[in-house]
Amino acid sequence: MDKQRSWIVASAVLLLFAAVALLLLTVHVEEIQEPPQYMYGIVLDAGSSHTSIYVYRWPADKQNGTGVVTQHSECKVKGGGISSYAGQQGAAGRSLETCLKQAMVDIPQARHHLTPVYLGATAGMRLLNISSPEKSKQVLQEVGQTIKSFPFKFQGAKILSGKEEGAYGWVTVNYLLENFIKYGFVGRWLNPGRQTVGALDLGGASTQITFVNQDEVEDPENSMTLRLYGQDYTLYTHSYLCYGAIEVLRKLLAHLITTQDSSDTVHHPCYPSDHREDLYLQQVFESPCTKSQRPALYKPEMLMIVQGTGNYQHCLRNISEIFSFQNCLFSQCSFDGVFQPNTSGSFMAFSAFFFTHSFLKKSTGIYISTPVQLQQAAQTVCNMTLVKMSKDFPEQKSYLRDYCALAVYIQVLMLRGYHFDDNSFPRISFQKKAGDSSLGWSLGYMLSMSSMLPEENVNSRRALHPGAWISLLLLLALLISTMLIFIVLQVCHKTRSNV
Ligand SMILES: *[C@@H]1O[C@H](CO)[C@@H](O)[C@H](O)[C@H]1NC(C)=O
Ligand SMILES: *[C@@H]1O[C@H](CO)[C@@H](O)[C@H](O)[C@H]1NC(C)=O
Ligand SMILES: *[C@@H]1O[C@H](CO)[C@@H](O)[C@H](O)[C@H]1NC(C)=O
Ligand SMILES: *[C@@H]1O[C@H](CO)[C@@H](O)[C@H](O)[C@H]1NC(C)=O
Ligand SMILES: *[C@@H]1O[C@H](CO)[C@@H](O)[C@H](O)[C@H]1NC(C)=O
Repeated sequence: MDKQRSWIVASAVLLLFAAVALLLLTVHVEEIQEPPQYMYGIVLDAGSSHTSIYVYRWPADKQNGTGVVTQHSECKVKGGGISSYAGQQGAAGRSLETCLKQAMVDIPQARHHLTPVYLGATAGMRLLNISSPEKSKQVLQEVGQTIKSFPFKFQGAKILSGKEEGAYGWVTVNYLLENFIKYGFVGRWLNPGRQTVGALDLGGASTQITFVNQDEVEDPENSMTLRLYGQDYTLYTHSYLCYGAIEVLRKLLAHLITTQDSSDTVHHPCYPSDHREDLYLQQVFESPCTKSQRPALYKPEMLMIVQGTGNYQHCLRNISEIFSFQNCLFSQCSFDGVFQPNTSGSFMAFSAFFFTHSFLKKSTGIYISTPVQLQQAAQTVCNMTLVKMSKDFPEQKSYLRDYCALAVYIQVLMLRGYHFDDNSFPRISFQKKAGDSSLGWSLGYMLSMSSMLPEENVNSRRALHPGAWISLLLLLALLISTMLIFIVLQVCHKTRSNV
């Protein structure tokens, strides 16, 4: 009897031991560690219309896995983009101070001197560098001076090329979706074997399309190869300068002014019919994007009246005329003679694509997942009066007059320009964020600049080889089952002999 009891006790102890060992092996390492210490990084996204400051963070002991770096906080700088302060001494730098002070609060003081800070400027500064290289250099210098006066590790202020902007946007999307590598069941980072997702970005002064492409890229300007986590990615990417939301609206005004004869009133088919505004010619023609369209007798101070007509068909035809669908020197083009292979796979559309899509959905009640629905929603918005829109969306007052033009522009760009159709359009997802992190180029930029995207696969994070680890797991499971069966048999036997 006693011998039997001690057998049961011994097996129970062994069972407990095996169960604890199994738990220790399977529980995610993070959960049995102390709360992690974080490291931080800052990116200033100096866009054409405004600057955003993003603070990212990651556990101090890890950095090379996807999904490890996440957005900690975001601060929108008040006022215009840094390029809008050209020629105003010190103003661009000063505009950033409030948000940089906020970053000092968001990041624990002990980490300040370890925190890298990057400033990347995009199409607004690309345009300023075209119209006035000295002013653009001065603005960059000034913002650099301001950032250096804070206790972070300043890593430079530069203008990103269109290609870089497109590629970093693609990296951000796929990093956040964990499409490069994933923390797998066997306790190590794996290539999940998933398709990557293309990136569609619509800023104020430019728009980017980037996707993995198997076909031949006929224009080397559009090709880019990245090696990430031991895998090669061949990207097609293009950035269309002057096709960002703000510059395209300017190009539309320029087109309307130059194609209508009237010298004081211009009819705007994409503005609501109850909207009328005054406009100085310089507001339209000072930009490098419209300079070539200046009328022969161009007087910057001349005032014009813009009268909305809210006519979808006229709006569609005028916007289509901004694009050139002829003169393709390659086997196929998007527009303006730019080579583009067929799109493939899924896409993520963010920034102004998201904001416009979201407004269309809210204002028309149409859920947009096909080309026809996009066209219907655009048509409905173009037919709305400003009075009605202001009643429903008072908080968006200053943007309301532009939604018809933006909706029609996105329609022409995506369907006629990029050739999305009934099959491919539904695979575009309009998003602002993935998890808590904003979509855009800035996260991908920081990851690349700080070497947190290794070319080669990251090593196993556990000491054990996965093969050995799995064997151990199976062995323990076997041990537990045997012990269980043994105990049950013993207990049954005991009960029966007691009866
Ligand atoms: C401005 O443009 C020129 C010519 O494309 C280029 O060489 C230069 O690097 C640009 N400046 C900055 C600050 O990027
Ligand atoms: C462009 O818009 C104007 C003003 O509404 C209109 O008169 C004109 O016909 C439009 N152009 C085209 C090609 O439809
Ligand atoms: C691209 O798409 C067109 C039309 O859908 C098709 O005819 C063509 O073969 C495709 N090209 C490639 C390289 O797949
Ligand atoms: C535009 O709106 C008016 C009423 O505001 C309506 O009568 C008309 O049918 C609408 N047109 C289209 C094309 O939706
Ligand atoms: C991350 O990758 C880089 C480049 O491969 C390497 O130098 C670094 O040690 C890695 N860091 C960690 C924490 O694995």
